[in-house]
Amino acid sequence: MTDPTPQEDPAVTNQVARHSNDAHGSHGTAVASHGAADTPENFENPGLPPHIHRHGDHDEKAAKRSELQVVTMFGLSMLFTLLFIVSYFAIGQDATVTLPLSGKVGASHTALGVTLGLSILFIGLGAIHWAKTLMSDEEVVEERHPLRSDDETRASVVKTLADAAESTHLTRRPLLKMTMGGALGLFALPLGLQLLGSMGPMPRNDLEVTLWGKKLNGKNRRLMRDPAGTAIRLSDVTLGSVFHVLPEGVNETEHPLNEKAKSSVILVSLDENKIKSQKQRDWGIGGVVAYSKICTHVGCPVGLYEQQTHHLLCPCHQSTFDMTEDCKVIFGPAKRPLPQLKISVDDEGYLVADGDFADAVGPSFWELA
Ligand code: FES
Repeated sequence: MTDPTPQEDPAVTNQVARHSNDAHGSHGTAVASHGAADTPENFENPGLPPHIHRHGDHDEKAAKRSELQVVTMFGLSMLFTLLFIVSYFAIGQDATVTLPLSGKVGASHTALGVTLGLSILFIGLGAIHWAKTLMSDEEVVEERHPLRSDDETRASVVKTLADAAESTHLTRRPLLKMTMGGALGLFALPLGLQLLGSMGPMPRNDLEVTLWGKKLNGKNRRLMRDPAGTAIRLSDVTLGSVFHVLPEGVNETEHPLNEKAKSSVILVSLDENKIKSQKQRDWGIGGVVAYSKICTHVGCPVGLYEQQTHHLLCPCHQSTFDMTEDCKVIFGPAKRPLPQLKISVDDEGYLVADGDFADAVGPSFWELA
């Protein structure tokens, strides 16, 4: 970098001064080299560019045309909002549609996205068109003043605001006010609709019952190995063995994943003498006991059994349940013991459930705190 020559001295910089050419403020730029004596205070006020009137400012027909265009846009917004609501109910979740670039996509999501997008687009277009063609476009300059304006200025601000409100034509053109209110009001509906509608059906008693409580062909359901799906004889369960179990017929239900998530069970054969709870002994057979595998903290599968300590461990947050004491929580964030499944043996020697769990499985919920 070289030293500046006298002509290039930053103290005598070329300064660009904007100045107005006439009283109406048409302006240009000029380059002046006046040295440090030129201070910003000496700049001339460029003023405002000449105001150009729009058609609608002096032609009522043009203003009416603009109003009609804005009303049409707000009307289109309302139409697309209504189409959104219709699509929400009319198009099935499984319906698909093939689009040129994206290929096969969900018809419901496509329709909801397009209609909602167009609805808000027309609100925006209508507002912009209104502002550009009907609202006052006069620029107003407010001079700087002390922080608290004097009473006269404050009164004039109130008047300016009132004038601005008047210039939006809201009072003179009630149709604009009504369609804008309608478009904005209706636009809020899909947001609430999505929020409430997408929460799905009410759970009713789904959180409290599992497949074990529903008989299959009039008989109690057998305990089936997971994932092999084969029934378990009492004689298969040797001391210390562990089985992961699902109810018979779970794959034939309407929502097998939901049913599995609630009715997974762990079957363990304990030394009966080590079982401390009489109820636990009674609900099992000779030390073979079955417990829900769904952690009562937040629902992870409790699948780690320590044969020496008889502890069942949840891998998610380390809740630990004592299998010799009715699966009581001995460590971790879970607050309730794992519910036990009462079991017995059917005519053919297979293990069956004698009904549902006595308590709801999984995490606590509002009615089971
Ligand atoms: S889900 Fe089991 S401890 Fe958190």
